[in-house]
Amino acid sequence: MGINFPLQLSYKFRLLLLFALCMMVIGWVTSSYLVAAFQEIPKVKIFNRTIIWTTELASSNKASMTKSKLKKCPLLSPHLRGTRKLIFKSDLTWGEVQTENPKVQKGRYHPEDCMALQRVAILIPHRNREKHLLYLLKHLHPFLQRQQVDYGIYVIHQAGDDKFNRARLLNVGYLEALKEENWDCFIFHDVDLIPENDLNLYMCDVHPKHLVVGRNSTGYRLRYKGYFGGVSALTRDQFYMVNGFSNNYWGWGGEDDDLRIRVEIHGMKISRPPPSIGKYTMIFHTRDKGNEENSERMKLLKQVSRVWQTDGLNSCYYNLLSVKHNPLYINITVNFHVTS
Ligand SMILES: *[C@@H]1O[C@H](CO)[C@@H](O)[C@H](O)[C@H]1NC(C)=O
Repeated sequence: MGINFPLQLSYKFRLLLLFALCMMVIGWVTSSYLVAAFQEIPKVKIFNRTIIWTTELASSNKASMTKSKLKKCPLLSPHLRGTRKLIFKSDLTWGEVQTENPKVQKGRYHPEDCMALQRVAILIPHRNREKHLLYLLKHLHPFLQRQQVDYGIYVIHQAGDDKFNRARLLNVGYLEALKEENWDCFIFHDVDLIPENDLNLYMCDVHPKHLVVGRNSTGYRLRYKGYFGGVSALTRDQFYMVNGFSNNYWGWGGEDDDLRIRVEIHGMKISRPPPSIGKYTMIFHTRDKGNEENSERMKLLKQVSRVWQTDGLNSCYYNLLSVKHNPLYINITVNFHVTS
């Protein structure tokens, strides 16, 4: 508009326009002041770039933002509580977890009093671990609600007797979840890891983010330099750019290192929260049948730069058996042909 204002615009209207313009400038100045104030919160060090990024992602979500009269949620929600002792009741039931989370519907939730910064899909690969899933969801639902995230939890269940393929299940989760919502951010989440500190934000960053700095089973240290497994967060575009996970890792191990190599090939870095924040409790279990260590993995890892373009999201074949909207999560059941 600008130059071509029709001449017949009344004086009153122009005055109104000027007033609106002033308000916009004031709004802009105060909001950048608030962002600056955030960076000064001493007890939590959040990287500047996280703030810039989440704000950027939020503005990519502009259409829904302007429709809504709600203000953007702050990056650090007022409901955060830091570290809390996790309790695992042996007689916990699905009914109890459902009663504790009345605002979760069909596995989804969004804050009511502000506009979430990101829409986040949590993807959990699964087979025969109902008890772990129950414990995880018992903690994850309130955790995500305290963070004021707009989220959906997808459990991708592998049926059949083939070896477990965590990576391919996660590719399926990504593809299927995008059919019902244009999620900004994906969290790839093991079923047996429970976050201990709600300052560990389940949101995406400028770079792919690895959230499990330590777990109780390793004395809260990184398992090895470059470890990228357990729980990681990539934006829709970051994951698409690397062509997702490889589909060829059957059994335990390797697929997370493969993803790290894909990320590095694309010149991205991996960010992590500080060790005091990236803490997890690992629920004890023995290795499952059908998820034996993958002895091929070293060989596969050597060829990533050669095959990533043809092995990934664009070659992820699966038989979709069902998509069910349970109260606490969306269940996607698939099986695979080992030969594909
Ligand atoms: C970690 O904590 C969980 C839950 O309390 C427990 O089941 C598991 O045995 C612990 N692992 C170690 C190595 O302490």
